[in-house]
Amino acid sequence: MSAWPARLAPGVAVALVPGAAAAAGRPWGHFAEAPWGYWLIAAVVLAGFLAFTFWALRRRHEERPVPTAGYHALGALVLALAVFTLVLYLVVAEEISATPATEDAWDWRPGETLADPGGSGLSGEPYRGYRVYLAQGCTYCHTLYVRPQDIAGGWTPGARAADVSEAGDFKHFPFTLLGTQRNGPDLTIVGRRIADLRYHVDHLKAPRRFKPRSVMPSYDYLPERDLGDLAAFLVSLGNPPERLRAGALGAARPRAEESPLVAMGRRLYKGEGCVSCHTTDGSPSAGPTFKGLFGSEETLADGGKVTVDVAYLRESITHPEAKVVKGFQPIMPPFDRLSDEQLEALVAFLESLGAASEEAQGRR
Ligand code: HEC
Ligand code: HEC
Repeated sequence: MSAWPARLAPGVAVALVPGAAAAAGRPWGHFAEAPWGYWLIAAVVLAGFLAFTFWALRRRHEERPVPTAGYHALGALVLALAVFTLVLYLVVAEEISATPATEDAWDWRPGETLADPGGSGLSGEPYRGYRVYLAQGCTYCHTLYVRPQDIAGGWTPGARAADVSEAGDFKHFPFTLLGTQRNGPDLTIVGRRIADLRYHVDHLKAPRRFKPRSVMPSYDYLPERDLGDLAAFLVSLGNPPERLRAGALGAARPRAEESPLVAMGRRLYKGEGCVSCHTTDGSPSAGPTFKGLFGSEETLADGGKVTVDVAYLRESITHPEAKVVKGFQPIMPPFDRLSDEQLEALVAFLESLGAASEEAQGRR
């Protein structure tokens, strides 16, 4: 079913029978679900056009001029078609407004603020950030729309099958920002991957500090308020609003007995942008998760095996190209300008996520 009529028909079907597709649990129905009303109208319109064509062709060879009645008939047909098309739009619009919001639908009100779950003390207004996002044209490079093929294709880093967009996800957006361009990654769940206002503000100001070859423009000309709001909007993406409001993300891990070195490593993990490619909770991203990494056995792209120890970690950070992990692209920039102390802190932080972690086996 790849021919274009087959792809268009479901939309028409949904339009003619309000609730049909929603009842089936998906926004668009199948070609075969098109009701008889659709086929009837399509047949009438098609038959009308064919009849007029044959009639006009036959008249051409006769002496008499074509009477205006023929053109009136054609006009009526075109008008009927136009009305039919308009109704399709209206019915679909009605259908969408009746679609219930999904559980994690974006839902932020004007004026509502979000405190940084990353604990930086920054805050911003997601709703206002949404407006800035729109005004700055982020949609020219980013989509907010996960298609099934984006999961396999890696266009939405860290996305799972459950993240594929549904109509109800967009329910509360004043208008949707699906976007058409994928010059940058899809941002639908970016807030779940990087729940950190500080990181987003820094990345917006200087994308190449984190991704040396990024083509994203620098937004350092924006006022701090706009940057903070944009960051809050980004963090709001992919996190159920209720959980964010309750601060559930930030307070997840007790950090009482963390050593100063590990704490420094944790700050570097965000400050140096490791967070943009590595998670600490086992969820997938552009690079391997850090959860349970230390002490595990790693399979490399060339088929070799290596035990993750301090030496391996240091090398992976300063010369990532030396040993590339199987199943990942060699896109990590070398962090060869870190001081010895910073490197030590990062390694200590990684170590703290590995050895102590009982669920080390369950990663990836
Ligand atoms: C010219 C295209 C372009 C525009 C415009 C653009 N971006 Fe990007 N963006 C990219 C590319 C490419 C990447 C991937 C490399 C990177 O992370 O810098 C990216 C990455 C990102 C990321 C992911 C960061 C990460 O570490 O995973 C966020 C968030 C982001 N952009 C937000 C924005 C926002 C907000 C705007 C508008 C203010 C915007 N972008 C405008 C191209 C663009
Ligand atoms: C642009 C994305 C990106 C950034 C930023 C990044 N990494 Fe990576 N990293 C990767 C990828 C992809 C891999 C797997 C491929 C490879 O081994 O090079 C990786 C591999 C690693 C490994 C080896 C993991 C394993 O499973 O063996 C370590 C350790 C690591 N990175 C640490 C860091 C640290 C620390 C930072 C921040 C200072 C960082 N990375 C920043 C993408 C990134």
